[in-house]
Amino acid sequence: MILGSFCAAFAVYSAYVWTAATDIPQHRPPGDQVKAGLALFQEKNCIACHQLYGLGGHMGPDLTNVVSAPDKGVDHAKAFIESGTSKMPNFNLGEKQVDALVQFLKFVDSSGTYPAKTPEMSWYGTVAYGAAKHTQ
Ligand code: HEC
Repeated sequence: MILGSFCAAFAVYSAYVWTAATDIPQHRPPGDQVKAGLALFQEKNCIACHQLYGLGGHMGPDLTNVVSAPDKGVDHAKAFIESGTSKMPNFNLGEKQVDALVQFLKFVDSSGTYPAKTPEMSWYGTVAYGAAKHTQ
């Protein structure tokens, strides 16, 4: 009887481990708009002044999470890309191109966080990741 319950528990737990527990989140592949945005990002050489994941030029801020930063966001990013500023050139892009660049930035944003989240170790040895800090 007890052995039977252990066998049943083993079977149920095995099924769980092989299904739900192995269901890791998948990063969606980039769509056409994202690819068009990447092509523009390269063509206009945005990386000469900006960084993604901390890599690139340092005239402008890192763009990895600009579309999800609490004090920035999609409309903020759009405004800069559409009009430029005294420090960033206006590329005179069409609406479609601006949207493609925003979609590309959203894709980058969904791939991770920069700067990396700071791990905090609890006194009993587990590690928890706090909220990412946006420094710019
Ligand atoms: C010549 C350098 C330069 C180039 C090239 C450039 N930028 Fe910028 N960008 C800047 C600077 C400098 C700022 C900050 C502007 C300010 O504060 O006035 C900025 C700001 C931004 C912001 C707002 C960022 C934030 O965190 O507030 C976005 C989004 C952006 N740029 C996107 C782009 C994209 C997309 C391209 C390519 C199409 C691009 N930039 C090309 C210099 C540049």
